[in-house]
Parts: sequence; structure tokens; C-alpha cells
Amino acid sequence: MIKKWLPQFWEDLRTSADAGLLGVARFVGLLYGPIDRNLRIDEAWRKALRYRLAEHVGWRHALGGITYLLLMVLVVTGVLLAFYYRPSVDEAYPSIQHIVSEVSFGWLIRDLHLWCANLIVIVALAHMARVFFEAAYKPPREMNWIVGLALLGVALAFGATGYLLPWDQWAYWTVTEVLDAVALIPLFGGLLADAIKGDVIASGATLSRFFALHVIVLPWITLALVSYHFTLIRRRGLAPPMTVDDGGRKWWLSGVGVGEQPHGGRPFFPNHLLRSFGVAVLTLAVALTLAVLFPRPVGEPANPYVLPNELVSTWAPVDVSLALIRFTGIWGLALFSLLGVGLILLPVFDRRPERGLRQRPVAVALGTVFFVGFLAAWLAGRQIRSVPPSERPQPEVVGEQAEQLQELPLPDLGPTPPVPNPEDSGRRR
Ligand code: HEM
Repeated sequence: MIKKWLPQFWEDLRTSADAGLLGVARFVGLLYGPIDRNLRIDEAWRKALRYRLAEHVGWRHALGGITYLLLMVLVVTGVLLAFYYRPSVDEAYPSIQHIVSEVSFGWLIRDLHLWCANLIVIVALAHMARVFFEAAYKPPREMNWIVGLALLGVALAFGATGYLLPWDQWAYWTVTEVLDAVALIPLFGGLLADAIKGDVIASGATLSRFFALHVIVLPWITLALVSYHFTLIRRRGLAPPMTVDDGGRKWWLSGVGVGEQPHGGRPFFPNHLLRSFGVAVLTLAVALTLAVLFPRPVGEPANPYVLPNELVSTWAPVDVSLALIRFTGIWGLALFSLLGVGLILLPVFDRRPERGLRQRPVAVALGTVFFVGFLAAWLAGRQIRSVPPSERPQPEVVGEQAEQLQELPLPDLGPTPPVPNPEDSGRRR
């Protein structure tokens, strides 16, 4: 019975399914070339597998794919965490403790989520550096540079909003410090910080906002931006290779790349697909190893009345900001951020067709400062453990704040947790 039914079912599926459905496989990276919608789905699949990519597509082009893979791991681990996480000041901290100590492999899922949130920033920047140094941001791909930067912004927003969710002292006070810094931005800083906080200090209202942004708003924005990023890559093709050697000076050819070269080049299947698979396995192995070797400890429960003795950063951009403030001061951080903004505007100013490094010395020098600076600041920032003493409010100020807080309409802070014993701080599992 089943022997007859299965082939019949397969035949029905082949004749009735629209080949356009293969767009899903294309979106997740299992196919690359255009889908021929005039064919039956199985023929369209075989044709797409025969697609050939341009010869110059190499390992460095895997960086965008790795970023995408990390995004997918973040989505999967994030959904698993959301099964157990509770976004209220009373329950957030206990639910995190429950995840890391009682849920099977909960600690691994959580640390994988945290490490992927770090790696995605580093790998997206490496991908951006590849695009930058190969001048692939020049017309006709300038729009994809902007969309890519928006994606980087979204990755940063994911990390920033996720940072508060554990509702422990490190999360609470780091977010408080960042919001204080946001309030200092001239003109709109105060309004922005108040809008994000939703209360006089970081409280239950802030937690709800961060949670809603993290699990509802940002994922939809990401889906839209990633789809658009991929559509533009397919429409314009990847930037062509550096092929003309003009008396020792290399020039980059502009024009449409991969999509225009169906013959010659590398076969998508099995060569490119196997390479992508290998890169994916390696990426997952690195993320898993980091998650197992360097888990994020759970700090003391958030307590708005008690300043922690030290803040442990758990996310790359926080490390970078800490290092920049520590070694170059607040102006160093502001200048570095300005440099980042300058990179956003790069395709507006740098539209000439020349792509060699020597033909655009200013852009290359500024870009190098940014990328090397970010990496160096990240590595240095990972070593910084405590809040600089000069910036730590004095105990009497905290006491005053606490008194004022008692008089204000009460923000939603949850039960006041016990004052922690400093000797206890550190890892808690
Ligand atoms: C979540 C973040 C991102 C994902 C998932 C992603 C994904 C990808 C993928 C898969 C590719 C094709 C392969 C490759 O060139 O590596 C690509 C190309 C490209 N990406 Fe991204 N990307 C992201 C962020 C960025 C950023 C931050 C930028 C720059 C600011 C950027 C700009 C570009 C450009 C201009 C191309 C075309 C490159 C070329 O023609 O050679 N992307 N991206």
C-alpha cells in the first residue's frame, strides 16, 4: 500500500508544486542562482544546482554567509530561551537561574546565544572590512552598503536590548551607565534616554520595552533588511575581481559580477555548497567551544540601591566602549563613533570607479584605523573588570538617590533584593 502511495504522492507534488517555492531554499543558502519558474519543481531544483559562481568567489566571501548563519543560530537559541524566560522584574532573574541550572542544556543554549551575539558583531565587521577594502561599496552596490550598515545597527540594537534581560547587577548597572551617557548627547539625548527608560530610573518599564524590542520589533526589521540585502546581491551580483594589472597599479573593474557569468567559474554544487557546509560546521564548533569554555556568569540580582563593586562586560561593543573611555577618554569614544558614522557616508563621497588601495589612500587609512581600532579595543576591553573609581558615585550620593526614590511614584523594581556580600560575587551556576 505505502509502496504505491509514496511514488504517487511524489509525482503529485512534482506536478503541482510551484518552482517559486525553491525561493525558500535560496533564502537559506541551499541554492544560489535564479530559479526557473517555467520548469517543474524538481527540474528547476536540478537546474539551480548546476549554477556556476564566478571564479573569484573565494573564502573571503564566506564572511557574509557566516554572519547569516550566526543570525540564524541567534534566532533558534533565542526562541528556546524565550520558552523559559519571563520578562518581569520579579521573575526575570529567577528564570535565568532556572535556565542555567535546571533546564536541560539551558546553560549551553544561553551561552551559545551570548557568544553568537558577540561573534556576529565581530564577523559582520570583518565582512564589512572585506567589502570596504575591495571597494565593493562603490556604485552600483552603494545601496547594499547602506542596507548592510542598517543590519549592523540592528545587530547592535539586539545586543543592547538583550543586555538588560538577565536583570542582574552587571546588566542593570551597565545599562544604567549607557542610558546616562545617552542622556548627555546634546539636543535630543535626554528625551531619547527617557523614552528608552520609560521611568525615572531603569525599572520594570525599561525591561518590558527592551524585551518587546528584542523579541518582536527587531526580528521583523532584520527579516526585511536581510531579504533586501540578499535581493540586491542577486540583482547586482558580487563585485567583480581585480583583473587588470595596469603597469603594477591594480584597478578594480566595475560592473555586474556573478549573476552575469552562468558559464565557466565554480560549480555551485557540490563545490560551493560543500565549502559553505564546512564553514558552517567550523563556525558552530568555534561558537560552541567559546560557550563551553567561557560561560557568562550570573551576577547578583539587580539592585537599584546598591552599586556593584565591579562590572563584568559580556558583549563586544561594551568592551570596546570601556577600553576607548579608559585609554582615550570620552572624546576618544566620540571621535571613534564619528569615524564609524563617516564610514556610513563613504559611498556618498567615494564614487570614483578606481578600486585599488593606492587610489583611495584617505578612505583606506581611515577604514584601517576603524577596523584595527575596534579589534584592539575589544581585546583590551575584555580585560577591564571594574568601574573606574572616579566614575563611581559616592555612597552618600547613592543614599540620597535611594531616599529620593522612596518619595517618587514607585517605579516597578520588583522585590528589593538582599544587599550582596562582596565576597560572594563571581560565578553562580
Ligand atoms: C547581519 C548582517 C549581514 C549579513 C547576514 C550579510 C550577508 C551577506 C552575504 C551572504 C553576502 C554575499 C557574500 C559576501 O560577499 O560575503 C553579502 C554581501 C555584501 N554585503 Fe553583507 N551582510 C551583513 C552585513 C553587512 C554589512 C555590515 C555591510 C557593510 C556595511 C554589508 C555590505 C555588503 C555588500 C556591499 C555586499 C556585496 C559585496 C560584493 O559585491 O562583493 N553587509 N552580505
